[in-house]
Amino acid sequence: MPDGIDVDYDGLIPNNVGLNADARVRKALETWHPGYIDWWQDRGPDGFQDALVYLRTAISVDAQGWAKFGFVRMPEYKWGILLAPAVEGRRIGFGRHKGDPAWQDVPGEYRAMLRRLLVIQGDTEPASVEQQRHLGATAPSLYDLRNLFQVNVEEGRHLWAMVYLLQKYFGADGREEAEELLRRRSGDQDTPRMLGAFNEATPDWLSFFMFTTFTDRDGKMQLEALAQSGFDPLSRTCRFMLTEEAHHMFVGESGVGRIIARTCQAMKAAGIEDAEDVGAVRRLGVIDLPLIQRKINLHFSLTLDLFGNEISTNAANAFNAGLKGRFREHTLTDDHQLLNDTYPVLRLVDGAVVKQDVPALSALNMRLRDDFVDDVRGGITRWNNVIAKSGIAYRLALPHVGFNRRIGEFSRARIDPLGNILDAESWQGRRDAFLPTAADGDFLHALMQPVRVPGAFAGWIAPPRIGIDNRPGDFEYVKIHE
Ligand SMILES: [Fe+2]
Ligand SMILES: [Fe+2]
Repeated sequence: MPDGIDVDYDGLIPNNVGLNADARVRKALETWHPGYIDWWQDRGPDGFQDALVYLRTAISVDAQGWAKFGFVRMPEYKWGILLAPAVEGRRIGFGRHKGDPAWQDVPGEYRAMLRRLLVIQGDTEPASVEQQRHLGATAPSLYDLRNLFQVNVEEGRHLWAMVYLLQKYFGADGREEAEELLRRRSGDQDTPRMLGAFNEATPDWLSFFMFTTFTDRDGKMQLEALAQSGFDPLSRTCRFMLTEEAHHMFVGESGVGRIIARTCQAMKAAGIEDAEDVGAVRRLGVIDLPLIQRKINLHFSLTLDLFGNEISTNAANAFNAGLKGRFREHTLTDDHQLLNDTYPVLRLVDGAVVKQDVPALSALNMRLRDDFVDDVRGGITRWNNVIAKSGIAYRLALPHVGFNRRIGEFSRARIDPLGNILDAESWQGRRDAFLPTAADGDFLHALMQPVRVPGAFAGWIAPPRIGIDNRPGDFEYVKIHE
């Protein structure tokens, strides 16, 4: 068996990192654990802590069958520390140390940079749990309620993954950072989470599905870039996290797809062909397609901000250092050092959007963002296929990358979803056509009534094609009154 495939599942903290033989780190994690549980009770899912939830738990890192399903009370979930198997003889694949053996310990010169990367990634994980904590009250079915909680417990495990690296490799500093990760709060005035999109509200299930489609996909891109890291424990951690992340994006994309399917079906049944006839569509108790477009505009633009500035020396430094690579670096065929390469970047120059070739090293954030946009485009196409199949003439689209930005060059301009630059007055006049309005929020709020009968679904969302773990349609995924 390759190194690290055996998981010790019996202790308090399931792991394949030899915690039993590492008293110092085990003690640090066991000391951190009660604070984590307090955080989970206080800021994790509101209610349902005694419910039995049909969850998958990672019990192995073997690609074939790494998870088992069963009913679990969330506070008793086994949040393990699991690293993908070590690759024998692995070497650093990019930057100035390209070709050297991958590091099993933190190189002293990159300690601060690495710690920062871990903390930023780690901060997003509990943040999304906090953002989603009220959604259980309005779940459209037990199936969806279970999916929400699955995403939540796995984000919790991702926090454990980063905390393990901090405590194992960063001593007292790492323990301090691990405490801080439990102290910051999404949306808090004084101690907010580190990144903007993780301080936004997730007030309804359409927002939740958009968040898991777009923002969890940013997570995937970041993890893919960190999975390339020359610091081998980080690479192995991220590789395993990616297996879980795929489910989060499935929840999001299929959730929006099911909403679209239900809307189109209801419109057809009522003889409504015009998707812009919003009043008539809403009277059917389904979500109009233009509102879905406005939510896409919002969540896409918030997520783009997570990729940072167009030109970034931090990204260049992390790449040169061999700590953070490009999306699927190992499949790229250039020199993996980019010393003389350029990359085309959209910039705002003299009030116009122009494409400029800039040094590739300084444009790594944009390269990752472009890979993200490519990745997310497939989801939009699949949503449009659902609409097209119903025969309704409407198409969803991603807005221009300069639309509604708060970070980077485009934050200085007002750009519409098609990429036109607007003056303040026309932006104000058309804002409600671009982004969700207070009235949209009220409509969704009124629509979000919980459905808790096994096999039943709220009227605004279609049932899934197949159940989780192949369970039948009327399976009781969450036993609330146990
Ligand atoms: Fe995560
Ligand atoms: Fe996720």
